[in-house]
Amino acid sequence: MGDLACVNGELMAPEQATVPIYDRGFLFGDSVYEVCRIYRGRCWLEADHLLRLKRSLKELDFPPYDLDQLVARIYRTIRASFVKEGLVYVQVTRGVARRTHAFPNPPVPPTEVIIVMPFDDGPSAALRKTGVPVVSRPDLRWKRCDIKTTNLLGNVLANNSAHREGAYEAVLVDHEGHVTEATHTSLLWCREGRIEATPEGHEILIGMTRHLTERLAAKIGIPFVESRVTLAELQAADEAILVGTSTEIMPIATIDGKPIGSGKPGPITAKLQAAYKEELESWLDEAASFETKKASAKLS
Ligand SMILES: Cc1ncc(COP(=O)(O)O)c(C=O)c1O
Repeated sequence: MGDLACVNGELMAPEQATVPIYDRGFLFGDSVYEVCRIYRGRCWLEADHLLRLKRSLKELDFPPYDLDQLVARIYRTIRASFVKEGLVYVQVTRGVARRTHAFPNPPVPPTEVIIVMPFDDGPSAALRKTGVPVVSRPDLRWKRCDIKTTNLLGNVLANNSAHREGAYEAVLVDHEGHVTEATHTSLLWCREGRIEATPEGHEILIGMTRHLTERLAAKIGIPFVESRVTLAELQAADEAILVGTSTEIMPIATIDGKPIGSGKPGPITAKLQAAYKEELESWLDEAASFETKKASAKLS
């Protein structure tokens, strides 16, 4: 059981997969992507991720794209990989065409890459109990961060610099001094019993785990509001949390060395973590009972 790729519908070992040098994803970062968590062989929040992919393709004016075929290929790759606990990475580029900035006209077929990889949640699970240190970095990204493109250099540079300092993540601060989000996770913070987050817009990626957190907050009766804060205001919050596909619900212990609240995971974070676990388990139970029903219908 290891990584398995599916390139334009063909299964192969990732080491054998290659990209033509004229691929626009390679040349211009002219491509979009998604990452889904696989629990027990199934894609968590699958419909939400597909909707975001559809939106990213639309925002970048990609030609029509067959999402049903993509889903079939994703599950073919998951099954062939035997991965039960993992991640699936999907990237769609505008395809291969001689290098010129304008889109190929007529359009060319997209390049589609799916990579299924096992994921060991152990290290993250341990960190979710203690919280993680993060640092702040300037937000150097472009002005359409709501589109999930592979143009990730701003995220990569900030993340790398955070890791060099032993931090788990970097929270990004825009040119006006407001915090936006983190390099590969959404940022939430808590004040006066509320969960707060940067308003959705072009400055941040629309996080699927953030959306789930918002639904969970409604379920357990915690208000969720959008607001803007400076770094100093964020550091003065009662709790701060990172949320994302593989990160799940991760408490922030310190920002630039300054403890958030007591420096330990706070009560709202703990409630969200419990609600997340419950939601996931009931989804897994539902999926398992659906599989059992399907199997017995086949036998009868
Ligand atoms: C910049 C950024 N923000 C937030 C997220 C979290 O999004 P999701 O919850 O959909 O994983 C990601 C995930 O890749 C990201 O890259």
